[in-house]
Amino acid sequence: MAGGRLRLGVNIDHVATVRNARGSAWPDPLRAAILAETAGADGITAHLREDRRHIRDADMEALAAGIGIPLNFECAATEEMQAILLRLKPHAACLVPERREERTTEGGLDVAGDESRLAAYIAPLREAGIRVSMFIGHAPAQIEASARIGAAVVELHTGHYSDLHAEGRQDEAEAELAALRKGAALAQSLGLEVHAGHGLTYDNVAPVAAFPEVMELNIGHFLIGEAIYRGLGPAIEEMRRRMDEARGIR
Ligand code: PXP
Repeated sequence: MAGGRLRLGVNIDHVATVRNARGSAWPDPLRAAILAETAGADGITAHLREDRRHIRDADMEALAAGIGIPLNFECAATEEMQAILLRLKPHAACLVPERREERTTEGGLDVAGDESRLAAYIAPLREAGIRVSMFIGHAPAQIEASARIGAAVVELHTGHYSDLHAEGRQDEAEAELAALRKGAALAQSLGLEVHAGHGLTYDNVAPVAAFPEVMELNIGHFLIGEAIYRGLGPAIEEMRRRMDEARGIR
């Protein structure tokens, strides 16, 4: 059997995307986060982007103060974000690469290529008791560099696997899964907690959820979309059910 119950982090960024499309006050990301908590989410993830295209500073303040489950604050490794992290002191900080022209976080962070800067960047976060997570691909060099700089967690980017799966490129999706699994095992052997996320849906979540090394999945876009049809609570409950099933938990 796979390694115990998986945590589900629900990313509520796209509640803010819908709100911002009309420049109004609703739907409110905090209300969605509280609903997610009630539906069994183990954490809330939100990404404060440099351009504030969805989540805004006031949302992060409200989430930090208003939810009873851990907040995973996703951001780029910039000075501005470091200051906000040190003020809000969320449970976790997930560092991601960010480019203004991208629609979503397209690749993993280059920890190996920016190792000394990132080591210095995360030192005060660690000192403040924030669990630092690096959002990376499965390349061993990135995993090893994340361990060397003292990150607590690596979140493995499942976006490429999800794309291959959606395009019906089954052999390539299997190969990508195998590489992710190898990366998860390496990360665990180096003492890193392993998370995964990006592009996960009801149809593609099971093989990733079954990796015994993975402790947490972070899922957003699909769940917020699915909430249109079934409501946020039932959408989350169904994901929870599929994750539990993949772990052999009934
Ligand atoms: N994890 C990280 C680090 C992300 O950047 C994102 C996307 O914001 C997710 C998980 C969730 O991805 P998705 O919205 O595709 O489920």
